[in-house]
Amino acid sequence: MSDLFENDLFENKAEDWDAGDMKQILSQAIGGAMVQEVSFLPTQHVMDFGAGTGLICSAIAPHVQKIMAVDISPSMLERLAAKPELKGKVATVCQDILDCPMDEKFDVIVSAMAMHHVQDTDAMLQRFYEHLQGGGQVALADLDAEDGSFHPADAEGVYHDGFDRDALQHKLEQVGFQDVRFETVTTVFKDDKTYPIFMVMAFK
Ligand SMILES: C[S@@+](CC[C@H](N)C(=O)[O-])C[C@H]1O[C@@H](n2cnc3c(N)ncnc32)[C@H](O)[C@@H]1O
Repeated sequence: MSDLFENDLFENKAEDWDAGDMKQILSQAIGGAMVQEVSFLPTQHVMDFGAGTGLICSAIAPHVQKIMAVDISPSMLERLAAKPELKGKVATVCQDILDCPMDEKFDVIVSAMAMHHVQDTDAMLQRFYEHLQGGGQVALADLDAEDGSFHPADAEGVYHDGFDRDALQHKLEQVGFQDVRFETVTTVFKDDKTYPIFMVMAFK
């Protein structure tokens, strides 16, 4: 087994992930916004980057042909693979596509709350672009720029305290994405603080 998978940062979280109220509220808001804003088609092949236990896949699966759930956490993907409602519709790939791209292209790439776990945002967006069909679309949800209090101070694998929208739009455009559009999908209230969550959509 590679070092990557031995160091599964979500191993202790996977079992109870779906039971967390915040996870459910977030994934319902994000998944709902994706279904409403992206014109999914029953012929489409979608990648869910950082799919985790499949909360977003569950929202999207009824609207598309198939989903490739990409994640680097074997324990999170194990939970996803055990969900009967996703069987036959969602395949899992435990692979870091930044290091090792897939030999496959997608009509849409979605992602929820995973981008802040990836150190090199430019390289990640470049990979998304490369993995899209011409005219394909991304719908990416994450935290707006915050003061670092969203995660515990000792949280491992958190590389960004959210994202500044203008800076992220610039990065998307640098890679080649067009028609970049943001919306606020929900706001998390935690310990007297508010954390807006954006979804950015853009086309290849
Ligand atoms: C906060 S969880 C979100 C999971 C899921 N999208 C959801 O909304 O419930 C972040 C996920 O991103 C995954 N992740 C972190 N770095 C990654 C990478 N380089 N490639 C793919 N997935 C990654 C983690 O393993 C984890 O499952």
